[in-house]
Parts: sequence; C-alpha cells; structure tokens
Amino acid sequence: MVPDENARAYAESSAPAREELNGPTLHATDEMRRLATPWPVAIARAKLLASTPLPPGLILDPACGSATQLSALCTLLNRPGLGVELSGAAAPLAAINLERSSIWSSGNWTETSRILWGDGTKAESILQTYHQSIGATTTIALLHIDPARPQDAQQHTLEEMQPRLDHLLASWAPFLPREPALILDLSPRLSDVQRMEVDDLVSSIWNDIPSTWQWMTQGRGRIDRLSLWVGPAADSNSHRLARLSANGELSLLSGTSENSVVGEPQIEVGNYLTIVDPSLVASGLTESWRNLAVKESPSDWLKLTGRRPTFISSEALPDINEVRDFIQISGEIVETAPEVSFETLSVLAAIAHTANLSNLKLRCRIDPDLQPKLQSALDRELKGFGSSSTAAQGFLTEAGEGYVICRQA
Ligand SMILES: C[S@@+](CC[C@H](N)C(=O)[O-])C[C@H]1O[C@@H](n2cnc3c(N)ncnc32)[C@H](O)[C@@H]1O
Repeated sequence: MVPDENARAYAESSAPAREELNGPTLHATDEMRRLATPWPVAIARAKLLASTPLPPGLILDPACGSATQLSALCTLLNRPGLGVELSGAAAPLAAINLERSSIWSSGNWTETSRILWGDGTKAESILQTYHQSIGATTTIALLHIDPARPQDAQQHTLEEMQPRLDHLLASWAPFLPREPALILDLSPRLSDVQRMEVDDLVSSIWNDIPSTWQWMTQGRGRIDRLSLWVGPAADSNSHRLARLSANGELSLLSGTSENSVVGEPQIEVGNYLTIVDPSLVASGLTESWRNLAVKESPSDWLKLTGRRPTFISSEALPDINEVRDFIQISGEIVETAPEVSFETLSVLAAIAHTANLSNLKLRCRIDPDLQPKLQSALDRELKGFGSSSTAAQGFLTEAGEGYVICRQA
C-alpha cells in the first residue's frame, strides 16, 4: 500500500492526525490508539538498538497496527519498514503514518517501505508481494511483533494473542537469518510460566539463541511493558529493567535473575532505609541492584512484597543512576515512631522537629480516605514549630513491627 491522495483524504476524515509528543503527526482511530505503542515509548525502545550491529535489511512488523512502533524503528535505525495489518481500516492509516514519519525524520527509507493489508502470518506471500512492489529482493534485519491481546483480560493464554506467536514465528523463520534479531512485545501480565513457554517456543526454532527479557516501567511502581529481545537484539544479560522517565530518558539495569530473601536487619538509628521500586522485584533484579547499591557494608531486605519493598543498609546509597532510578525514597533512620493516627500526630511532629526535619511524608499503609487528612494535619502541626534553614525533608514508614522516621538522603 503506497499512500495516494484518496488514502490521505480518507485518513484525515476517519482519524484526523495528531501530533505525538516529540514525534511526528500520526493518524489513529480511538481503537488503534488503545493498541498503539505511544511514540515516546516506541522511540525509547528503538534507541536501545542504536548501537546494535543488526544484519542488513529491513524492519518487519507483521501486525503493525498504527505503525507507530515500526515508524520509530525505521526513523532511528534509518532502515525501510515492512508492516502488515489485518484490519482494512487501520492499514491505510499505518501506510500514511510510515510516510509521515519518514518525512518528519528526513529519513531516506520511504521508497522501499510498504504497509500490506493482510494476514501477517503468511510470510511467503507477503514477501512475494513486497518484492514485486519494490522490484527487488531484500533481507530482514529485525522482526518486531506486538500481538493484540484480549481486551480487559487480566490473564490470557498465549493462544489468545492475535496473531498467534507460534504460527507467526514458524511462518517467518525460513525467511530470517540463522540467528535473527527479534523483539516480541508481550503483555506485562504474562506469568513466569507463560514467559517460559515463550522461551521454549523461541528455542524450539532457534536453539541456544541469546535472549533478554525486558521489563519497562514508567514509574508509579507498575510494569507497563514486557518484551523479549532475541539474537543480536539481546544484550549480554538475561534480564533487563528499563525505566522511562517523563522526559523520555531511559535508565537501564541489567543482570540475571536471583532470588532475594528477606533477612532480619537491625532497624537502628543511623542505619539507612530505602524503599525501592516494586519493578525491581517484578524483574527479578533485586540482587543486581543491591550489588551496585552496596559494596561490602552490611545490608538486608526487610520486605520484598507489595508497594514498598524495603532495604536496610549501614551506609547511604551511592548517587549513581542505576541505583537512584530504581528507588522510591531513601534516608537515614533518625527515630522510631508510634503508629500514625490523629492522636499521635503531635508526638510525630515533635520528633520530626527535634530531628530538624521540615516535613514528614507519610509512606506507610493508611486508609486512602484518611491519608490526605492525616498528612495535612501533620503538615500543620510541623509548621507550628517553624523550621530552621538547615532543616531536611523527612518521611515515615513501616519497619518490621513498628515505624521509623527517616531524614531523606
Ligand atoms: C497491539 S496492535 C499493534 C500496535 C502497534 N505496535 C502500534 O504501534 O500501533 C496489534 C495489531 O495486530 C493486528 N493483527 C491481529 N492479527 C493479525 C494478523 N494475523 N495479521 C496482521 N495483523 C494482525 C491487529 O489488527 C492490531 O492492529
């Protein structure tokens, strides 16, 4: 499908183009936007391949939807793209989006880029049509696939993905290099067993091929994306956690998954308490993070579940990105504290004031309806004391059976 004036008019009337954040102006219906990879995520992932020595050839996305991810890959890698889309309503919009992206990025990959309307699992006929259309044959440098998943399903089976991964990979395998570069963009809700099924599927076709599971978080303690990077697209580790910040910067932590255990650390004044991002636990990289966070000094996990996994160390954590970007808050324990209630607020404020803290964020389990009321009452109490110019920020959290107040590091 090569966009012409009719296609552009159809796109403008059916789904007016919208400017993506720091990206091109793209068309998508509401349904396509629901399924699409947002441009900042798509470009951040593409950047991960910037220094990867991919084999020659094009970028293939056999279920390309709006072609947002495909466009980001083509833009960043300066390679032509071949997208396939089953929906006859989405395919023309994808074709225009690919064209718009190449103009936006001043890329020279438009001429041999195509979107085909059809079933992305029919590899042989897709390639035939594509080669006829461009009048030449070419190879595939990277296969990216982001299958559709059942809507609103917390859990789903691999067979429910559209297109099915097993059918798709088996169909394309004969046309890919011996050790192909693949990115399989999957649901963040896949269970460990399902991840193993995907591993098995890949290694049943490409024995012993390297691969890296990537968990991506955009904050709020949630895993937003889960993907498997295979062959030249993999890095040297089996697990990677990527944190995408609001300004589009990506922090990476790589390693192998190791089991962490909860210990019985000393919760003493002078020790440091750190609440890490739950994505560290979800990605199995707690020990890789710990190896960067503390060298030889004593440290232990106090909690490894829930919204506030907690770590205790005898020293402050180093100010390096891979450590800092995966924590929620960290500080030195200055005092133990009673449970938070309206009755104990004046005691808490007095402790905070004595420790020269100008405020005290409540980072513990509290009824969500009560939390803002307690926090503002505590802020008022502390304001009543006045604060010195040297006062630091503080927080209060659970530690073992009790609570502690910490000076934020
Ligand atoms: C999750 S969306 C892809 C979104 C895409 N990454 C983007 O950036 O917009 C999956 C797409 O696969 C399409 N699809 C499902 N089965 C397909 C098949 N057999 N062949 C081609 N496309 C298919 C769906 O119509 C849907 O648009």
